[in-house]
Amino acid sequence: MSVNSLTTALITGGTSGIGRAAANKLAQLGIHVIVVGRDAARGEKTVAEIRGAGGKADFISSDLRDASSVREVTKRAIELGNGHVDILVNNAGIYPFGPTHETTEEAFEKVYSLNVKAPYFLVAQLAPLMAKRGLRRAIQRRKQAGNPWLMLRIVCQREGNETLFGDLFQPDSARSRQ
Ligand SMILES: NC(=O)c1ccc[n+]([C@@H]2O[C@H](COP(=O)([O-])OP(=O)(O)OC[C@H]3O[C@@H](n4cnc5c(N)ncnc54)[C@H](OP(=O)(O)O)[C@@H]3O)[C@@H](O)[C@H]2O)c1
Repeated sequence: MSVNSLTTALITGGTSGIGRAAANKLAQLGIHVIVVGRDAARGEKTVAEIRGAGGKADFISSDLRDASSVREVTKRAIELGNGHVDILVNNAGIYPFGPTHETTEEAFEKVYSLNVKAPYFLVAQLAPLMAKRGLRRAIQRRKQAGNPWLMLRIVCQREGNETLFGDLFQPDSARSRQ
């Protein structure tokens, strides 16, 4: 399966910032993008802009901090993707700043639920279906403030062939610094 046969991407936090830039880029490449976020107005605006530019997009409104929501999102995304999701961009995340000794348990749980638990269960739900289709994905988000192009790198692998899909997101200057 070549990169050209990847048709559907699920992008958590695809309604803002880096996730939205990734959604726009993937849509420009002809991929059906399904963006997830809580704010319906922002989600619908994102989808309208992508569709207005000739792309294919859908929005799922969800708070991903509990596993049952993740299950609902993956179920709906698979329906929208006609039975499959080929690319998962685990991007939704929060990063409240502050000293460790002032972090409350509630704040910790919020960060952990969205940044750790949700990606874990999204992979758990989608990876088996991807594997059945002969797809494997590793998505890394690099913490390099100031250069968002380096934060998102998607590796697509099949039968020993590896395509650095992430290269599509990176200008030449960023690629040469890796
Ligand atoms: N910007 C940076 O310098 C930087 C640096 C290091 C790492 N990162 C990481 O890169 C990712 C994107 O950063 P960004 O700056 O582009 O973020 P952003 O603009 O704040 O966007 C965050 C996205 O996540 C969604 N989201 C937040 N809470 C959610 C929840 N509970 N359930 C579902 N969706 C939720 C938001 O939509 P709603 O609010 O509508 O839910 C939004 O679409 C994050 O994981 C961040 O930790 C960013």
